[in-house]
Amino acid sequence: MTTDPQIIAVDGPAASGKGTLARALAAHLGFHYLDTGALYRAVGLAMLDAGLDPHHEANAVKTAEILDIDGIDDARLRTDQISEAASIVAAMPGVRAAILDFQRSFANKPPGAILDGRDIGTVVCPAALVKLYVSASPQTRANRRFLELKARGEDVTEAGVLADVVARDARDANRAHSPLKPAEDAHLLDTSNLSIEAAFRAALDVIEQILPPDADRR
Ligand code: CDP
Repeated sequence: MTTDPQIIAVDGPAASGKGTLARALAAHLGFHYLDTGALYRAVGLAMLDAGLDPHHEANAVKTAEILDIDGIDDARLRTDQISEAASIVAAMPGVRAAILDFQRSFANKPPGAILDGRDIGTVVCPAALVKLYVSASPQTRANRRFLELKARGEDVTEAGVLADVVARDARDANRAHSPLKPAEDAHLLDTSNLSIEAAFRAALDVIEQILPPDADRR
C-alpha cells in the first residue's frame, strides 16, 4: 500500500463547476479539499472590511501574510464584489507567494488532497498525480453564476454577470504571474453540456485510470 499523499489538481475559469466537482470528488475519495480561490477572496474581503483599496499592493501583501485561514468559510466571500477584489489581489506576486506554502502543505496531507484554483497544476502542485482543467462556455458559466447569486438574493442581471466573468477571465489569463492556463499534462473537461453528475463521472473515470489502485482510499 502506498503512503505517498495523492494530489489532485482541479483548475479552470470562473464558475466552470470546478468547486462543485472537486468537493464531490474529495468526499467520494475521502480526500482533503481546499478551495484556493477562497484564500484570494479572503484577502480581498479582509481589505475591504479594513477600508483598504485592493489595488494597493503593499497592503494586499501584508493582508495575505496575516490571513486568518479560519475566516475562509465566510458566506460573504461569494459576492460579485469580492470576486472582483480577489482577482485584483491574485495578480500580485507577493500575495501569491504569501499563501503558497500553506497550499503546498495542505496538498501533502495524507491520504490525499484535492485543490481547486487557477494554477494548482502549473505552479502550486506541478507534480500532482492527476490534473483536471474544467471549462465551459462563458455563457454557460455566467448563467450558472447568475442563478447562484440570484438565489443568494444579490441584485444582478445575467448580462452584468457575463461581463464580470469575461473581464475576470481576461485578468486571470493575462496576468504575468501564475496565469490561468491548463497544465500541459492536464485532462480537459468541458462541462458546458454536462450535468453535475455527468461531470463527476467523467472526472472519476480519469482519476481511476491514474491513481494507484492500492491508494489508501474508499
Ligand atoms: O468560484 P470562481 O471560479 O468564480 O472563483 P474562485 O475560484 O473563488 O477564484 C476567485 C479569484 O481568485 C479568481 O478570479 C482568481 O483571480 C483568483 N485565484 C487565483 O488567482 N488562483 C487560484 N489558485 C484561485 C483563485
